[in-house]
Amino acid sequence: MRDSAKVVFGLAPMEGVSDFPFRLWFSQCSAPAFMGTPFLRATDSFPRMLPEDFAPELNRYQLPYGLIPQVMASRSEDFVRAARLFLDAGADFVDLNCGCPSPNPVSGGAGSSLLKKHETFLSFVSAIASALPPESFSVKMRTGFDDLNLFEKFVTGLKDIPLRQLTVHGRTRRDRYDGEARWDLIEHANTNLPYPVVASGDVLSHKTWLTKKAQHPTIERIIIGRGALRNPWLFEELRRGEAVTLSLRTLILALASFAQIMELSYNDKDRLHALALAGLFQSTCGTDEAKWEDLWRELGGKDPFEMTVERFAFGRTKMIWNSLRSALPAIYFEPTLLRAKSLGEFLKAIHAIDPSREELQVEHNPDIDWLYSSSRKKPGAQTEDAETGPSED
Ligand SMILES: Cc1cc2nc3c(=O)[nH]c(=O)nc-3n(C[C@H](O)[C@H](O)[C@H](O)COP(=O)(O)O)c2cc1C
Repeated sequence: MRDSAKVVFGLAPMEGVSDFPFRLWFSQCSAPAFMGTPFLRATDSFPRMLPEDFAPELNRYQLPYGLIPQVMASRSEDFVRAARLFLDAGADFVDLNCGCPSPNPVSGGAGSSLLKKHETFLSFVSAIASALPPESFSVKMRTGFDDLNLFEKFVTGLKDIPLRQLTVHGRTRRDRYDGEARWDLIEHANTNLPYPVVASGDVLSHKTWLTKKAQHPTIERIIIGRGALRNPWLFEELRRGEAVTLSLRTLILALASFAQIMELSYNDKDRLHALALAGLFQSTCGTDEAKWEDLWRELGGKDPFEMTVERFAFGRTKMIWNSLRSALPAIYFEPTLLRAKSLGEFLKAIHAIDPSREELQVEHNPDIDWLYSSSRKKPGAQTEDAETGPSED
């Protein structure tokens, strides 16, 4: 087995989630080594310039994580044009999305639809490789479109294409987010390709990682999506080898800071950029209440229980809570909180669940994994109409 100290964990690209303000906040919780942007959809007319808010970190701020911009396209030349903009702005390399299962990109010939035929996929990727400098782009793919029949052909064909890395989400497009990710196939790609292969799918805790590591010891790079949404301190848990605990005040400040960063990204971008430039997000708060207090003060926060923010920032904060509550003690898994009218009311309601509680453990709860799959089918029951589960990527 290779040295486990070399294992690198990053945050998966997540459309609707891993945007710039989210990344700033997430790095304060548990700082993964790198984070993926959501995909940028490139067409023949877009983008001419990089959208201002898409990846402002590039070459600009000292932040505790690396950034991997992702582009989706249905024509290789559109990918190349967009990738050059990112490379010129300072990106190390740019990722091609070949995994998105949503009907819109798929019907437009992008995302996972590139996997329908291995010839199409390989000529698409080769065309990009011949237009860009070596190792300046990577690919993120699923294991197939409808089934696994072409996976071996993908791997064989990719051997001669100088990618920076290949990320494999171990499911087909048909699987969406159901069933178990096929790490055996990811490992097969890893042992057969001359560049790093990044595994994606189903790392939800240190324990789940230990199981995967024992079964697939050659995997050294992993990205985490839903597990990191359910536990934003997961990367800290992976470093420590045990679940983290937070004070109740830290939980409230972390949620309030998220809302405030979102609010600034919406209403006062210049201030958010000035704070980033001044180094506010340079180190990580982790589970340290005093550091969250400092961050909160620097963000201009006062009493979290009196806070109001725009609907957009409030909605995003509820989304964070909606996943995070699954990793808190059972009494916090309380859907009625989502009906609070203002952010202050919402935070007050969370505090009021158990005001005298000193510490909360943040820990993966496997009993509700089904809520975070795409079909949301409880084993042995009807589909639950809960406000959780991944949106289409
Ligand atoms: C809400 C959401 C949005 C996603 N958006 C993207 C995306 O923009 N690009 C991409 O390559 N994958 C996207 N994915 C897929 C993830 O990057 C990852 O491969 C997948 O969720 C499996 O990993 P997990 O089990 O750790 O969640 C998304 C996943 C989720 C849950």
